Amino acid sequence: MKIITYPNPLLQTRSQEINLVDFDVKKLRKLARKMIKLMNKHKGIGLAAPQAGESLRMCVINSKAGCLLKDLILINPIIIERSMEKNIKKEGCLSLPKVQIDVERPMWIKIKTIDFEGRSFNLETGDLLARVIQHEIDHLDGMLIIDHITYNI
Ligand code: CO
Repeated sequence: MKIITYPNPLLQTRSQEINLVDFDVKKLRKLARKMIKLMNKHKGIGLAAPQAGESLRMCVINSKAGCLLKDLILINPIIIERSMEKNIKKEGCLSLPKVQIDVERPMWIKIKTIDFEGRSFNLETGDLLARVIQHEIDHLDGMLIIDHITYNI
């Protein structure tokens, strides 16, 4: 498995919602494991399924992004609340090698996501973890850090 890089159109396409009722969960778990491997191999802190060649709404987050006990797997994540306060930090992306861009994002978010059994759960987070999750959800919507460039004219 290789990381898809820009300008592959898959990176600019909205990924498909995962319907666990008629989806092969075994296959999905396998994909998640492969994505975690790929992310670690490239020392990434997050990876979205389209970056691994699958147009599906799933992403993995490295435990290091939030001092978590284990890596996070998010299926169909959506942001349900975001803070008014924003900050700007430099971001990179495994699909855009050597590119670093200042990206402004809310500092805090609340997301709703599901696990492999289809159980929904919420997660509230700030700091780096909030930034990484927003970056990965952007990928699921076909958005890249280069789409965040603003021009002051
Ligand atoms: Co990225």
